[in-house]
Amino acid sequence: MVLSLHSLLFIFASLLFTQILADAATCSDCFINSRAAYYQNSDEQGTETGRCGFGSFGATINGGDVSAASDLYRDGVGCGACYQVRCTNSKYCSDKGVTIVITDHGSSDRTDFILSKQAFGRMAQTTDAAASLLSLGVVDIEYRRVSCSYPGKNITIKIDENSNYPHYLAFVLWYQQGKTDITAVQLCETQNFVCKLLDRSHGAVWTTTSPPSGPVSLRMLFSGNDEDQKWVVPLNNIPQDWKAGDVYDSGVQVNP
Ligand SMILES: *[C@@H]1O[C@H](CO)[C@@H](O)[C@H](O)[C@H]1NC(C)=O
Repeated sequence: MVLSLHSLLFIFASLLFTQILADAATCSDCFINSRAAYYQNSDEQGTETGRCGFGSFGATINGGDVSAASDLYRDGVGCGACYQVRCTNSKYCSDKGVTIVITDHGSSDRTDFILSKQAFGRMAQTTDAAASLLSLGVVDIEYRRVSCSYPGKNITIKIDENSNYPHYLAFVLWYQQGKTDITAVQLCETQNFVCKLLDRSHGAVWTTTSPPSGPVSLRMLFSGNDEDQKWVVPLNNIPQDWKAGDVYDSGVQVNP
C-alpha cells in the first residue's frame, strides 16, 4: 500500500485530535488554577458555625482540614465535597497538597477556598515552609475534586437543634463518601410509602414542615457529573420519636 505524504499527515492529525478529545473527556481529574487564603481569626481547625450547617461535625471532620468555598459552594450542594488543593510555589509547596472538605461559604481576594489554618499549613513541604506560606496569607493554588473517604463510618443523620418535634424536622447528613452530590432527599412513610420531597433550607440542611408521622425512611439522590443519578435508601428508619440533636446511623454508605 502506498500512502501519499498528504494522507499520512491527515491520519496523524486525526490521531492527535482523537487523543485530545480523550484527554478532555477525563478532565474531571485535571487540576484547575486558583487562589486560596485561610481563616485568619479563628481556630486552627474546622468550625461549628460554617454555613453548611454541619454543627459539631464541621469542627472535627477530616481532622480539621476543611474549607469555605466561594463558587464551589453551589448554594449548598457543594457542602461536604472533597478537594485536593496544592499551592504552586515549588520552594514551599508539596506535590500532594492537602485534601479538604467544604463546610462553609466565603471568599477573600479572588480565592476559591478559605482553608482552615491547619489545612493551609499542610500544603507546605516542611514546618518552616508552612510558616512562610502562612505569612503570605493568600497563595496561588491548583485544585481538583476528589472522593471523600470515611473508613468505618456510615452515612449518619444528625437531627438539627432547630427541629421541633413533631412539627418541623431539619437534619444534615454526615460522612457522605465519594465524589457525587446529594441533590434531593425524600422522606417516606413506612406504612403506605407516601413520599415527600424535602427543601434544602441552607447549606447541607434538609427541612420539612409537618413531616410524616410514624417511623420514616429516607431516600437520597446521588448525582454525578455525567448525568448519572442514583437513589440510595438507608437500611435504618428515622425513629418515630426523633428528637432535636439526635444522631442516627443510616446503616448505608456509598463507595468512595
Ligand atoms: C454500618 O451499617 C451496617 C449495616 O448496614 C452495620 O452493620 C454497621 O455496624 C454500621 N457501621 C457503623 C460504624 O455504625
